[in-house]
Amino acid sequence: MILPRKPIRRLEKYRPPLEGRVGKLRLDFNENTIGCAPEVVRALRRFLSREGLSCYPEYEQSREKLARYFGVSPEEMVLANGTDDALKVICETFVDPGDLLVVPAPTFPVYQFYHTVAGGRTVRVACDQKFRLPLEKFIAALKKGARWVALANPNNPTGTAIPQDSLRQILEAVPKTLVVVDEAYGHFSGETVLPWIREYPNLLVARTFSKAFGLAALRVGCLFANAELADAMRRGQNPFPVNSLALACACEAVEHEEYVRFYVAEVQRNRAHLCRWFEGRGIPYLPSSSNFVLARVGPNAPEIAQRLRAEGILIRDWSYDPHLKGFLRFTVGSQAQMRRLYAQLRRLEKLIDTRKGQKDRRNFVAYSATGWFT
Ligand SMILES: Cc1ncc(COP(=O)(O)O)c(C=O)c1O
Repeated sequence: MILPRKPIRRLEKYRPPLEGRVGKLRLDFNENTIGCAPEVVRALRRFLSREGLSCYPEYEQSREKLARYFGVSPEEMVLANGTDDALKVICETFVDPGDLLVVPAPTFPVYQFYHTVAGGRTVRVACDQKFRLPLEKFIAALKKGARWVALANPNNPTGTAIPQDSLRQILEAVPKTLVVVDEAYGHFSGETVLPWIREYPNLLVARTFSKAFGLAALRVGCLFANAELADAMRRGQNPFPVNSLALACACEAVEHEEYVRFYVAEVQRNRAHLCRWFEGRGIPYLPSSSNFVLARVGPNAPEIAQRLRAEGILIRDWSYDPHLKGFLRFTVGSQAQMRRLYAQLRRLEKLIDTRKGQKDRRNFVAYSATGWFT
């Protein structure tokens, strides 16, 4: 057999998520749970023609439109086949074998994945007991020669946000390190550092159409940076990174900002309600700036997830992560969807174990009505 490169041989086999999710209550992948703006589907139908499908994508007008929406110039934007692909583009452009990536732990695993594929090493800096970024420790790790750092803001799976002054401190502490701020859930926190790309030449911001816009199936992501960095990324990129249908939908989606605002406001309201629901039952959870909430339900987490699945409700069990034993992550949906979740959770309350004093303190720190506790 012809052997693949060493970094590929070392990778664990990819375990794809469970299939058959359509039609179920999807509170497991932090997607938009009610769907995109209806006008986007209409635009897709308009686009579908034999000629439309036979042409290669054209980017110029769409890039201008999307760049205008994001408040940047087309030269400062790179389109990609979802943020996942955008992360691959970053690694292909900037990472040499042996280069160092620094990430917080826990965080979105795809940063480390593509960095490893490129032959890089990763240092994971554990978040503190409140799942906050330990800023001094983090900057010290970066100063050991990090090529890049990836910060999901808000973070996944914790939902916690990094304060903007901490981000400034990081950007200023390591001006020769590429700082990637992934704002996949930025709509739900209401904060962005996108305008800072004109201020910091080492900043790269990632956005996606998969979450608030509700276009996860189409795979559209964008990277933003100063024109030199963006140009470097485009140079080594697939010439047709986003397909025409996806592009048409993304361009239509940005015309319906009011729909996204309505959805985000609904999620924010229901997120506050979910937190109160946990509080009322003494279930520790992490205050979230995103469209999901991580809660500690104890050792029966896998069984609770399975029982919900049997009722057609999908949530994410994080117990396999050593940082998150006993934690479940709930994507926040519409009011009606959340009512359905509460009804089933009430039936499973006897499986929820909120006792403190477990062996590994790190795994059992969360927020409750009475404040942080271990
Ligand atoms: C922090 C973060 N970034 C990026 C992504 C992936 O986005 P995309 O669908 O654009 O690849 C996710 C998906 O869950 C995520 O949690």
